[in-house]
Amino acid sequence: MSKVVKLERRDVIAIVTVNNPPVNALSAAVEGGILECINAAIDDSKVMAVTLTCAGRTFIAGADITEFDKLPKASAWNDLLAAIENSPKPIVAGIHGTALGGGLELALVCHFRVAINDAKLGLPEVKLGLLPGGGGTQRLPRAVGPELAARMIVSGDPISATEALKFGLIDELVEASETGSEAFARKVLAEKRPLRKLRDDSSKLAAAKADRSIITNAVASMTRRARGLEAPFAAAEAVRAAVDLPFEEGLKKERELFRKLVGGDQSKAQRYAFFAEREAKKVVGIPEGTKPRLVERVAIIGAGTMGGGIGMSFANAGIPVTLIEMGEEQLKRGMRVMQKNWEASAARGGIPADAPAKCMAMINGMVGIENVRDADLVIEAVFEMMAVKKEIFVQLDQFAKPGAVLASNTSYLNIDEMANETKRPQDVLGMHFFSPANVMKLCEIVRAAKTAPDALVTAVTLARKIAKVPVVVGVCDGFVGNRMLDQRDKQAQKLLFEGVLPQQIDAVVTQFGLPMGPFAMSDLVGLDGAWRSRKRMGIKSEIEDALCEAGRFGQKAGKGYYRYEGGSRAPLPDPEVEKLIAETLRRLGRKPHAVGDDEMLERMMYPVINAGALILEEGIGTRPGDIDVVWLYGFGWPIYRGGPMYWADQVGLNRIADRLAFYAKKTNDPSLEPVSLLKRLAAEGKGFATLASAVKAA
Ligand code: 3HC
Ligand code: NAI
Repeated sequence: MSKVVKLERRDVIAIVTVNNPPVNALSAAVEGGILECINAAIDDSKVMAVTLTCAGRTFIAGADITEFDKLPKASAWNDLLAAIENSPKPIVAGIHGTALGGGLELALVCHFRVAINDAKLGLPEVKLGLLPGGGGTQRLPRAVGPELAARMIVSGDPISATEALKFGLIDELVEASETGSEAFARKVLAEKRPLRKLRDDSSKLAAAKADRSIITNAVASMTRRARGLEAPFAAAEAVRAAVDLPFEEGLKKERELFRKLVGGDQSKAQRYAFFAEREAKKVVGIPEGTKPRLVERVAIIGAGTMGGGIGMSFANAGIPVTLIEMGEEQLKRGMRVMQKNWEASAARGGIPADAPAKCMAMINGMVGIENVRDADLVIEAVFEMMAVKKEIFVQLDQFAKPGAVLASNTSYLNIDEMANETKRPQDVLGMHFFSPANVMKLCEIVRAAKTAPDALVTAVTLARKIAKVPVVVGVCDGFVGNRMLDQRDKQAQKLLFEGVLPQQIDAVVTQFGLPMGPFAMSDLVGLDGAWRSRKRMGIKSEIEDALCEAGRFGQKAGKGYYRYEGGSRAPLPDPEVEKLIAETLRRLGRKPHAVGDDEMLERMMYPVINAGALILEEGIGTRPGDIDVVWLYGFGWPIYRGGPMYWADQVGLNRIADRLAFYAKKTNDPSLEPVSLLKRLAAEGKGFATLASAVKAA
């Protein structure tokens, strides 16, 4: 008898229950167990109907992703689907939690489906670089119509149980999945309902057969966003096959596309990223059972670009915020920006019309730092100057309640120095959000030398509560993300001084899959801030200085490395910039020369890997996967390349170390020499992945 699937009989109803925590993933053992129980129920003459439900927090959340590398197991999976669909006795799926991927596909071969009100149903395979591989692309269009099916399959986003009921994906909403499916099974028997096999019901396909634009339009917006990804296009093709081909042929097409994707590099990288993100949530080096502190109110100091965005994130999650500024004027401006942002997203339909008012009611704007008194967590987001930050921490020590977690959103500065300004350094840490903070999901949680474990866990827990992806990092200049990105930007600047144009350099980066190149990003951030600090420090960056002297401060000025027309954010190459670069190079006596795209990519990306290796060597980052998560969620690294450290393993560390040493000589830049961890791994023929297993084992 299966250990993970149980069969019971309540008079004429057989109840099959899957119990494979945490998410009832369809491992080979679960599949085998369900098949065994279904066959036993069919063979039992006392059984008239069967229910399929799950114990624990959710219905089956999909195939077991850890088993994908151990293919083939397709035939057992197909036998199971066929056994359920062809059962002469009605089978009812009872859904709670999330019915996802193979879990929903299993429910789709059942003859009936019921779900509790807060259940979610979806086919998220595309997010793993796959498409549904158990008939989902053929049965879902037959269940809900090809338009909604296309949207669900190509985006991978689930729908609610109420929507599922409206579109015919489930038959009924129930109070509880197990008792509800049992009651529904009895109703099916009493009413002698015919068994509904979705494969035989093409009634909902007719409209899309007559008007192909139904599918084309449904997938267009999603595939437009899917730059570089293979799976969304394959998913769209499979849904088209559901409309164009008989069921069996559509199924064949789905299998063919699935097989190609599952063995491909993109899906492997995306599956890696899925687990890296989950690993990153596990904080190492703290006593087991460490509990977060209770946080009921948050105070944010500074209502500027970051403070406003951070405040919005907390308010969106229903956590009240005290937003503190140094003057009425600044406060008003900050509150106005937040309101405008919420109103803009309501106007786009992203949030309900009454949400802006509700969210604004969560924000209590105040002048004066003494108003931090009630907060359990304080995040400072004032100017990036150590003297200002230190002053803030002295005041926090005076006014914040005992036990409040005190966080800095600094991009680069040393958290230990801020902590040492207080008599409670154990409560101090960094919460480094990325801009725009209400949108970007990454939050680097900076663990300072004296940060208490429960303060750290509080920050991690809270970041998750506001839908951010927290990654714990150590103190260093720029932490993980900015420290690595700076290496790329330094090399991009050097290329500029060799006569390569900003648009050529940016194109290499965007073609690689990042959403933006270094110069478009500089324009977005604004060039004037860095220019002013360079002037303060007596440092020169001749091309950027010349741009600033010409008033080209970036997007906000309508011109920077690019020009921007009519308030648009689209960067347009500007002949004036070309002229300005050429003049600067002439003045400096530099001869422009062409650099190939491959060389540019290597010269910008390999130093990023080198910096990542140093971060691991110094223990600033715990796992290579953590660094990858930082890049995926902080800078939009293309998920189909896993993350920089994963990508480096695919390229081969040997090659990267060799090329870095080569460029160090060629460009006379000792900072490009491979660091010792990289050299050691390269010499041993190993990848960063071997370090990940070392951390896990520890
Ligand atoms: N396979 C293996 N492990 C899985 C898994 C899966 N499908 N889904 C989740 N897990 C694991 C996670 O790795 C994590 O393990 P850990 O605790 O050791 O780190 C644990 O389950 C809990 O996961 P989360 O931390 O993500 O828990 P949440 O409650 O936040 O989210 C969830 C639950 C919504 C189910 C989320 O885990 C999820 O989205 N899972 C993936 C669902 C998915 O992609 N399904 C499709 C799989 S592909 C497929 O079915 C192919 C088919 O068409 C043939
Ligand atoms: P900003 O200049 O937009 O906002 C800073 C705000 O702090 C101003 O509104 C100012 O009035 C207020 N302020 C200054 N001193 C104060 C005091 N004593 N009391 C109350 N309010 C005070 O700056 P921005 O961009 O929001 O940056 C804030 C912090 O976040 C900096 O440390 C920065 O490095 C960091 N950061 C910035 C990012 C960005 O892209 N802008 C990204 C990530 C972090």
